[in-house]
Amino acid sequence: MTDNPVSHLADVSSFLAMEVFAKAEELENKGKNIIHLEFGEPDFPTPGIISEAAIQAINESQTRYTHTQGISSFREAVVDKYRRQYNLNISADQILTSSGSSILLYMAIRLLVPPGDDIIMTNICYACYNNLSIIAGVNPIRVDIHLEDNFELDVNAVKKAITPKTRAILINSPMNPTGTVLSKSCLKELASLGIPIISDEIYADLTYEGEINSILNYTDNCIVLNGLSKYYAMTGWRLGYMIINPAWVSVAAKVHQNMMISAAEFVQKAGAVAIAEAEGECAKMAKAFNERRKFVLKRLGECGLDPGYDPKGAFYVFLRYPKKGIDSLSLSMDILEKAGVAMTPGIDFGPGGEGFIRISYANSMEHLDTAITRLEKYFFG
Ligand SMILES: Cc1ncc(COP(=O)(O)O)c(C=O)c1O
Repeated sequence: MTDNPVSHLADVSSFLAMEVFAKAEELENKGKNIIHLEFGEPDFPTPGIISEAAIQAINESQTRYTHTQGISSFREAVVDKYRRQYNLNISADQILTSSGSSILLYMAIRLLVPPGDDIIMTNICYACYNNLSIIAGVNPIRVDIHLEDNFELDVNAVKKAITPKTRAILINSPMNPTGTVLSKSCLKELASLGIPIISDEIYADLTYEGEINSILNYTDNCIVLNGLSKYYAMTGWRLGYMIINPAWVSVAAKVHQNMMISAAEFVQKAGAVAIAEAEGECAKMAKAFNERRKFVLKRLGECGLDPGYDPKGAFYVFLRYPKKGIDSLSLSMDILEKAGVAMTPGIDFGPGGEGFIRISYANSMEHLDTAITRLEKYFFG
C-alpha cells in the first residue's frame, strides 16, 4: 500500500469549537437547551446600512472582478480610518483587500517566510496560526505566555526564540483566546528587534481599556491584518484587508491575483460603507460587548471562577477551570452534556491552553447570566 499522499498535512487540526458545536446541535435536536459561548462571532446582525449598500450594489450589477488590491472607495475608507484612529498616513497602494482575513494570514506567512524557515508565535494563540504555518510549510516556533503574567508577551522570551531561520513574528492584539491587549512598550520592543512582524489587529476596535495600538505606530517592517468580521458584525461576508510595507506590495499583489483574483465587488462596496458610515452603529455593539465583559467578570468572580487576569479586548475570557484530572476537550464535552453550555477547549489554542476553557461573551446578558449559573452548579454543586 502506498502512503496517503496528503499525509504531510496530517498535523493540521480541525477547529475544536466546531466539534463542540456539532455535539451541541446533536443535543439540541434531542431537546436539550444549550447556551452557545463557543464561537468568536458577534451575536448582533450586520447593521442595516451595510446590507442596504450591498443590495444596491448587486442591483447595480457591481458583481464583477475588481482590482486585485480592492476597489478604491474601500481602500480610501481604510486610509481614512487609520488617519482618524491612529494618526497614520498610510497609502491606498499599501492595502490589499480579500475575502476575509484568514486567507490574508496565510498569504502574509507565505510572503515573509520561505518554506522550511521559522515563524515565531505565542503558545497560546488563535488556532489558525499554527495550522496555516504547517500548510505553508514553515516551522511555528512557540513562545509561552502565562496566566501568572496576565498573558502578556515577554519580549525577552521572544528574543531567546529567535534562530538564524526566523523570518517573522506573528502577534495578535487584542488576543484570541485571552482578550489580552499588548502594551505600547511591548510593541515598541518587538519592533526594535528588526524582524518583520505580522500583526493581526482584527479585534483592535474592540479594545475596552487603554489606548488602541497598531504596530504601524512603531514600525513599517510589518504586515497588518485586519477585517470586518468582528467589529462590523460581518463574519459571513468574508471581507478583510492587509496593510503591507510598500516594498512588498507588488509581490503580494501578484500572489493575491493568482490565488483569489479579487474580493467580491458588492461586498467591498458594503465594506466601504461600513467603515465610512457605520462607525456609530458599530460603536454601540462594542459598548454592549464591554458591558457584557464587565458583567461576566463580576459574575465569574462572585461564584469562585475569577479568571485571575484582566481581559481588556475582543470578546473572550480564558478561564482556568477548577477541576483536576480532566483534559479541556473532555471537560468541554462534559459541561455541554451536563450543564448545557458550549465553550471552546483551551487545547484548541496550543498546548499551553490545556486546563483552560474559552468563554465567548458575544451573547445576550440573559444567556450569559444563565450560563454562569449553570457553570457554578456544574463545578461547585
Ligand atoms: C485572531 C483572529 N484572526 C483572524 C480571524 C479570522 O477572521 P476572518 O473572518 O476575517 O477570516 C479570527 C476569527 O476568529 C481571529 O480570531
